[in-house]
Amino acid sequence: MSNEFKRHRKLRTSAGMRKIVRETHLHKEDLIYPIFVKEGNNVKNEVASMPGVYQWSLDRLDEEVDEVVQLGISTIIVFGVPANKDDCGTSAYSKEGIVQKAIRQIKRKYPELIVIADTCLCQFTDHGHCGVIEDGQILNDPSLELLTKTAVSQAESGADIIAPSNMMDGFVTAIRHGLDDAGYHHVPVMSYAVKYASSFYGPFRDAAHSSPQFGDRKTYQMDPANRLEALREAQSDVEEGADFLIVKPALSYLDIIRDVKDSHPVPVVAYNVSGEYSMVKGAALNGWIDEKAVVLEKLISMKRAGADLILTYFAKDVAKWLEEN
Ligand code: PBG
Repeated sequence: MSNEFKRHRKLRTSAGMRKIVRETHLHKEDLIYPIFVKEGNNVKNEVASMPGVYQWSLDRLDEEVDEVVQLGISTIIVFGVPANKDDCGTSAYSKEGIVQKAIRQIKRKYPELIVIADTCLCQFTDHGHCGVIEDGQILNDPSLELLTKTAVSQAESGADIIAPSNMMDGFVTAIRHGLDDAGYHHVPVMSYAVKYASSFYGPFRDAAHSSPQFGDRKTYQMDPANRLEALREAQSDVEEGADFLIVKPALSYLDIIRDVKDSHPVPVVAYNVSGEYSMVKGAALNGWIDEKAVVLEKLISMKRAGADLILTYFAKDVAKWLEEN
């Protein structure tokens, strides 16, 4: 009888047994926490569609960063919400831009904390697109110049990693050259290599005031139906010098995370985006799901799919939960 079928349950008999055969683990070092910095004073605004996520002004930013550091999170990514926008996103690359000021302030207090700068224009342009517009078209190469200026100014402010997210062709080449020419050879590029034109970004656009004022982002972000295109995007970014590859969003794209991980020997980052956060939060606040269990299951699925790092609005919660376990 016992030779007629396999007994898999042998390895599930106790918590201890399950622990020693567990294949995937989630660590605090895997987590990247996003922080929204907003121009102004005494700002701690909860984002309506993202309960528990706030926009912070610089005079209150320490409250957030202190907590992150105390929780043992080693990496953050900074998103800026500027006071002024114009057609070419000047405040994205100004020395006194909100992101530049925030990075200097954070690195002064916490030199060891790894600070990633999101490098894009959409929060800073009045039209809300990630590049330069002419006759209703988003121009590729002129956008690269502004993006490169933004990256260099972020590196000057002390950013440890530059994360370009605008999906123009050649952004890694342009930024790598810009950083090298300015003496920042040691600053790595974490490319949003595979970024889909996703409906899951809605809450982020509330948080960052970055919705396109006309049209959509489908001429630069990817079609959710495509897989081979993701491989081509990842490939060219690695050839251009990307040190990390981001796949975004994460949950509906676990297959893509696995593909990218299997085809490139670089760290892969899963971006657990705003809409993925809000869906869980909404259900949890209604008492419909067990938030902790659901979030940990989702994050372990991203690790299992091949992610080395996870960018998530749940990072602080997860750091607390990992401590409890
Ligand atoms: C900017 C940018 C976006 C996100 C991060 N950087 C949004 C977009 O393309 O509109 C989305 C993040 C999220 O939803 O959590 N280019």
